Amino acid sequence: MKTMKQLVIKNLHVSVEGKEILKGVNLVFNQGDVLALLGPNGHGKSTLFNAIMGHPRYKITSGSILADGEDITLMSVDERSKKGIFMAFQNPPEVSGVENMDFFKQIINSHRESNIKLFDFYNKLKEAYQEVNLSEDMNTRHLNEGFSGGEKKRNEILQMLLLNPGLVLLDEIDSGLDVDALQLIGKAISKQITKGSSFIVISHYARLYSLINPTRAAVMVDGKIVVDGGVDIIDKVDKQGYEWIRRELGISIKKEEDKPIVLESCARNKAVK
Ligand SMILES: Nc1ncnc2c1ncn2[C@@H]1O[C@H](COP(=O)(O)OP(=O)(O)OP(=O)(O)O)[C@@H](O)[C@H]1O
Ligand SMILES: [Mg+2]
Repeated sequence: MKTMKQLVIKNLHVSVEGKEILKGVNLVFNQGDVLALLGPNGHGKSTLFNAIMGHPRYKITSGSILADGEDITLMSVDERSKKGIFMAFQNPPEVSGVENMDFFKQIINSHRESNIKLFDFYNKLKEAYQEVNLSEDMNTRHLNEGFSGGEKKRNEILQMLLLNPGLVLLDEIDSGLDVDALQLIGKAISKQITKGSSFIVISHYARLYSLINPTRAAVMVDGKIVVDGGVDIIDKVDKQGYEWIRRELGISIKKEEDKPIVLESCARNKAVK
């Protein structure tokens, strides 16, 4: 396992499609931390993950992301992955033409000096399928194509199991999972924690967190980490929502519905007619 002793995010500003989403994120994250990242919809949590992972649409306009002192912001996605960073998508993309098994073999081999022996690969893969309770019939399906919501999420965790990453970023891994699957995935995450992986886990619900026992929690509002502290924050958000942030910290929270609606050009043309 490629471990990272410390990840330091300094004054990170990120724009998407020319709009500033992250407005100065500061975060110090140490090996062994399991951080619960909360925050209202549309305030930049997934944007932070995409910026850490290096998604090309998310432009870092200033600030830095230091992995053990080395700035990774100019590294390609695969270089970051080889450093041991792994992200499970909130909405895993469907990739037609790429069979699940070929994809898995490729991601394993690209993290190794020499290719994995087929026998070892099949055994490893079989075990991972069992752990997430997905059928091996998925092997010949195209990556995420036509997968149910829960199957997509299980397929993401399966990749985590195959890669054994040092730093795992989980973006709403619990959304779409049925009650039994949630327990199963909670178990898989806990096992990965005992193996030594560090985690940043985005979820809106205390239920997932109660299964994996985070060590700390933070809240993102309007592109900044406004609360960074103990796990009592999870319970507070669960019971009270985010209103206390305005009350106690004087930070107003813009709701999704307050944001101006930007019409795409064809919709605008229609509206003008
Ligand atoms: N590719 C994109 N194009 C345009 N806007 C984007 C894009 N990606 C993110 N945004 C906008 O950036 C803002 C933050 O989005 P982000 O997905 O980071 O929020 P979030 O905190 O993860 O929300 P949620 O809890 O709903 O998942 C939103 O207003 C979103 O619409
Ligand atoms: Mg999100």
